[in-house]
Amino acid sequence: MILSNGLLFASLALDFVNFASATDIVHYPPKLTNLNNLTFVLNGIGTPGIFNSSITPDFEYGMYNWCNMPHVRAREYQTPSSAYTLKYIEIIQRHHKRTPYASNTFFKEDIPWDCTGEGPVYYGKGTVGVTDDPTVIQWSAYTNSQNPFTDSVGPGFVGSNCAFPQITTGGLNDSYTHGADLRAVYTERLNLSTKADPNTFKIRVTSNPITSQVSGGLLKGLFPDSSDVAALIQADAFDSLTASYSCPAAKSIFTAYTTDSSNWTEHLVNAAGIYEELDEVSGIAADDTAGWHTSFDHYYDNLSAKQCDSKPLPCSVNDTFLCVTQPLADTVFRLGNYEYSYYYRDAYNSTLFSALSYGAWVLELVGHLKEQVEGTSDVKYFHNVAHDGSLSPLLGILQISEMVWPGMGSEIVFELYEKNSNSISNFFLRVLWGGQPMQTSLPFGTNSSGLLDMIPVEDFFEYVHNTIGTGPELFAACQK
Ligand SMILES: *[C@@H]1O[C@H](CO)[C@@H](O)[C@H](O)[C@H]1NC(C)=O
Ligand SMILES: *[C@@H]1O[C@H](CO)[C@@H](O)[C@H](O)[C@H]1NC(C)=O
Ligand SMILES: *[C@@H]1O[C@H](CO)[C@@H](O)[C@H](O)[C@H]1NC(C)=O
Ligand SMILES: *[C@@H]1O[C@H](CO)[C@@H](O)[C@H](O)[C@H]1NC(C)=O
Ligand SMILES: *[C@@H]1O[C@H](CO)[C@@H](O)[C@H](O)[C@H]1NC(C)=O
Ligand SMILES: *[C@@H]1O[C@H](CO)[C@@H](O)[C@H](O)[C@H]1NC(C)=O
Ligand SMILES: *[C@@H]1O[C@H](CO)[C@@H](O)[C@H](O)[C@H]1NC(C)=O
Ligand SMILES: *[C@@H]1O[C@H](CO)[C@@H](O)[C@H](O)[C@H]1NC(C)=O
Repeated sequence: MILSNGLLFASLALDFVNFASATDIVHYPPKLTNLNNLTFVLNGIGTPGIFNSSITPDFEYGMYNWCNMPHVRAREYQTPSSAYTLKYIEIIQRHHKRTPYASNTFFKEDIPWDCTGEGPVYYGKGTVGVTDDPTVIQWSAYTNSQNPFTDSVGPGFVGSNCAFPQITTGGLNDSYTHGADLRAVYTERLNLSTKADPNTFKIRVTSNPITSQVSGGLLKGLFPDSSDVAALIQADAFDSLTASYSCPAAKSIFTAYTTDSSNWTEHLVNAAGIYEELDEVSGIAADDTAGWHTSFDHYYDNLSAKQCDSKPLPCSVNDTFLCVTQPLADTVFRLGNYEYSYYYRDAYNSTLFSALSYGAWVLELVGHLKEQVEGTSDVKYFHNVAHDGSLSPLLGILQISEMVWPGMGSEIVFELYEKNSNSISNFFLRVLWGGQPMQTSLPFGTNSSGLLDMIPVEDFFEYVHNTIGTGPELFAACQK
């Protein structure tokens, strides 16, 4: 086994040493806005959107909402001219709102999370007799003070019955609404039934249980008459959706333009005073090595998870009058979005990094689209439930013009249309972000406007080929 893998790798490496010339990656810089303007991020005021509620009022629907991002809804959906027939959609979304990740709960203050009755469900299902319908088993996290190892993992665990992370009741409700909104737009356009048909509909998750938790809520809204749906999942060793496949080249390119680049460390140095204020409340040490000071990710996750679930901002366990203020939290939210813009769009090599780290999923997408063009697949709708680490490099590959940190429930829809004229059939792609055609920096569309709205699908295939290469080329490029 090891030998044959080794041989396979050796022959691929010999055949595809010319990756750089086979692909032709061009980085088209994003727009300059307050999102990626460090002066504004550090000295400005306010947040780049909503951070304290899942509800966006209808009159401003479409604006960034970290707690519940805008998605396709009947109210705002733009139906293209009747010359176009919708053939296929592929959706990729981030999971909905959740408790924080365990790694982000070392904050030494005490805002409790209560998950009574809202735990994740795990059980096995067989095919024979009573095994077909066993008792539903729900996990309830608990700690016991007799176990001396409990505290070493972080104070966030003690006294809480939540899994870190797990989708909250609010996040499940948002998942349901998301599914019902998609149903209202696409069932008629794609002739879907009220029950999921495995021949025409596929759903895919990652090995992180929160994507399955979201799927349960989503499918209830999308196919109300289905109670039992098989979700596709790839093994972590090669999963393209997470994406957890091994790509050392992507890792080293990323390190070169972040940790090892003053272009990146500049904002951390300039934010020293902001870190001081936050650390004073949280008790995180100045020489912390758990990632609190290498980016704003942990503070952002810790503070935003609280605000999305209507919890107060934290105060110091030693001084109840020393709290994170709203302006300080807002600064963290601006910094988080600045960091995502840098990671995936502003840095010159962000396009190369995105292509390597998310290329495999895009190659699968192109495969699905080609099957539609060739008429060899009955699937009409493919839904992927994933993570911010999935949508971000995908937005990097699509070179979105204004990059944000994809919030809860963020959604990208690939719509494939067929247009018949003079008995010649042509296929077009429309890509929706936040429910509307995506504005990118790519030279696509009328006057190279970058709007991904009815792009000849072959142009998209060619762009992917130039940016990612073939499967074997991508595989070889990752090993460099
Ligand atoms: C960045 O933001 C600062 C502060 O708001 C502003 O003065 C400056 O003009 C902005 N820079 C650009 C390039 O927009
Ligand atoms: C949410 O934040 C906005 C400002 O971004 C504020 O106007 C509003 O009052 C807040 N809502 C709640 C429920 O705290
Ligand atoms: C569920 O979502 C709907 C639609 O967004 C909202 O109106 C309702 O308040 C939510 N309910 C809960 C319990 O979060
Ligand atoms: C829609 O689907 C039903 C079965 O669910 C099928 O009988 C019907 O022919 C389909 N209509 C079109 C226009 O494809
Ligand atoms: C840092 O930014 C400068 C100016 O944009 C650019 O020329 C340089 O290549 C960048 N360095 C890295 C490592 O990204
Ligand atoms: C609270 O005070 C104790 C004793 O001075 C100290 O060890 C601890 O780090 C403080 N915690 C925080 C969160 O500041
Ligand atoms: C981009 O990455 C390549 C490959 O590692 C490297 O040779 C090049 O110097 C990088 N460019 C910049 C601007 O950092
Ligand atoms: C495209 O550019 C041409 C020439 O600048 C202009 O006349 C035309 O109005 C533009 N079309 C659109 C749709 O913007």
